[in-house]
Amino acid sequence: MRFRCDAKLPLIGFGTAAYPYNGERIEQAIATALELGYRHFDTAKIYGSETAVGRALTDAIGGGKVEREDIFVTSKLWGSDHREPVTALRQSLKNLGMEYLDLYLIHWPARFKTWASYPVPTEDDFDGLDMESTWAGLERCVDLGLCKCIGVSNFSCTKVDRLLQHASIPPAVNQVEMHPLWRQKKLREFCEERKIQVSAYSPLGGPGNSWGSTGVVENPIIKSIALKHSATPAQVALRWGLEKGANVITKSFNRERMKENMGALGLRLDEEDVMEIDRLEEWKLMRGEFLVNQTTSPYKTIQELWDGEI
Ligand SMILES: NC(=O)c1ccc[n+]([C@@H]2O[C@H](COP(=O)([O-])OP(=O)(O)OC[C@H]3O[C@@H](n4cnc5c(N)ncnc54)[C@H](OP(=O)(O)O)[C@@H]3O)[C@@H](O)[C@H]2O)c1
Repeated sequence: MRFRCDAKLPLIGFGTAAYPYNGERIEQAIATALELGYRHFDTAKIYGSETAVGRALTDAIGGGKVEREDIFVTSKLWGSDHREPVTALRQSLKNLGMEYLDLYLIHWPARFKTWASYPVPTEDDFDGLDMESTWAGLERCVDLGLCKCIGVSNFSCTKVDRLLQHASIPPAVNQVEMHPLWRQKKLREFCEERKIQVSAYSPLGGPGNSWGSTGVVENPIIKSIALKHSATPAQVALRWGLEKGANVITKSFNRERMKENMGALGLRLDEEDVMEIDRLEEWKLMRGEFLVNQTTSPYKTIQELWDGEI
């Protein structure tokens, strides 16, 4: 998949956000993922997984199992670092033990004070948004060769549009929640017109996450489509995301499920399957309540955070 910068984004990405954190488990999972063909690894400062991801990838590169150029590493700028993206990215690279990132994203459209509580900000932690200067900081990261591409995450069409008005380098990617029960039709069309790649996080609906749901993998329609193709519900959900033009970032630390998820590449859905999925009732799982308050946040309601697009 080609997109708006000099890098190639693999179709299936490997997520590394997992609670409770277990570095050793992440390292083992990445070693297995590499063996099974995963080449895109998604991390973020807030996941605490950069060090484990870096260790596993550096080991694999050192051991001759893979070349740095053949893997794609994404990390994200947390709200408390919006004033200093270059410093934050240098720290992420230090954690990863790498010289550059393939993709650096603004994790959420929210800025916190530098001492903000982790991971959930309190009312005192919010700071005024200044997307123009934060984005200029990301552009500096590209100019300094610290990352190949830059993008955003959890941005509505309205927010992307605003960003495009002052960006010198347009965002290559918008990483958002997307799965058969939250299909992002409007955002996909908006991004496609502007050559921005949509990356789907929680493509299975994040079963097992505190905010996630088994609603996708247990959906009777998804199950019946899976049965028809001798596939699994997870493969149907992932394939649906790929057919809609997204690259999907799924997480499993279980070898069998990692293998199963890669199997989505070999599945083909027919038009009727896609139409059936397009008729399912939608609901957004990751709503971002932690960014909404009545006093200090720029977002007084969930609707304001998503600009009425959810
Ligand atoms: N930008 C953002 O704000 C944002 C937000 C959320 C996530 N992300 C990124 O996206 C990644 C993926 O998100 P996610 O964890 O919500 O994705 P997901 O793939 O939708 O859900 C992962 C969950 O599904 C389970 N699972 C995996 N494969 C399965 C299968 N074949 N059948 C049934 N269950 C399966 C996993 O359990 P096992 O591990 O036990 O298999 C895990 O609990 C994260 O790790 C992170 O890198 C980004």
